Amino acid sequence: MARLLEGRIAIVTGAGRGIGRAHALELARHGAKVVVNDFGVSLAGEGTGESPASQVVDEIVSAGGQAVANAADVADFAQAEAMVRQAIETYGGLDILVNNAGFVRDRMLVNTSEEEWDAVIRVHLKGHFATLRHAGAYWRAESKAGRQREARVINTSSGAGLQGSIGQGTYSAAKAGIAGLTLVAAAEMVRYGVTVNAIAPVAKTRMTEGAFDTSAMALPEDNSPVVAWLASEDARDVTGRVIEIDGPQITVENGWAHGPSADAGARWEAAEVGPALRKLLGEAPVPENVYGA
Ligand SMILES: NC(=O)c1ccc[n+]([C@@H]2O[C@H](COP(=O)([O-])OP(=O)(O)OC[C@H]3O[C@@H](n4cnc5c(N)ncnc54)[C@H](O)[C@@H]3O)[C@@H](O)[C@H]2O)c1
Repeated sequence: MARLLEGRIAIVTGAGRGIGRAHALELARHGAKVVVNDFGVSLAGEGTGESPASQVVDEIVSAGGQAVANAADVADFAQAEAMVRQAIETYGGLDILVNNAGFVRDRMLVNTSEEEWDAVIRVHLKGHFATLRHAGAYWRAESKAGRQREARVINTSSGAGLQGSIGQGTYSAAKAGIAGLTLVAAAEMVRYGVTVNAIAPVAKTRMTEGAFDTSAMALPEDNSPVVAWLASEDARDVTGRVIEIDGPQITVENGWAHGPSADAGARWEAAEVGPALRKLLGEAPVPENVYGA
């Protein structure tokens, strides 16, 4: 097997279980030294007192790889900074950030509590921002000091964020936000040698087992080869993209783009908007179905 990540240094968040665990194992198999982060929370984000990150570290080390555990809450700004520092102090730098941690509290919008909204937005959106912010500042400093790294960020969006998903309004908003954040981060950080992409994974995990029929669903490890390649030096020309992975099928997700357009030449009369907009909508591609609709 060609090892794509020999000597590279990675953080994978939420890597104690599920898809994140599979990413950490795959990156280590390709020669990366991995900070395995997990806060050890339940599917709904409540504390469990478990430390699944240590178990994944043990798996990596017993297979001959290098890894250390980290128990940060990724959405805690100071803890996220300390996690980036841990990678730098333990292994001498940071090359790869895989933002994966998160949880769900699925509800129809009209039943969603303020607390559920805040918790799900926080873990996904702030959890991506906090790590990206601190890793990005490190990569900018390295670049300015003449030590630019081949840095890679792989974020985790979701089909729920790209197409929408009934009963997952909060989660869909957070995951759509992650797709938007990916575009901006990619554009801002290209000058520091950083690529930023996102995946929309699919896997049978505790997150999907309660919500869908998972009998034919892909496995967590089906997603990880794409992450390993995006994390490699070979992927330096790929940035600002969202890639859906469903078992053996990988798909480039087309995001928002300008479609059919009309110019009234002056402010529109409200009564004229209807016919004009209906004409444009007739020319535009029909949006894909919201999952579950
Ligand atoms: N399973 C799927 O089909 C699917 C589909 C689309 C997107 N996703 C996304 O993939 C990612 C992984 O999901 P999964 O299915 O493996 O779920 P999972 O529940 O099996 O794993 C998520 C891990 O993240 C950890 N975590 C949660 N909050 C954290 C925090 N604040 N700090 C650090 N760690 C934290 C949990 O302890 C858990 O071990 C999530 O972002 C999820 O939204 C999953």
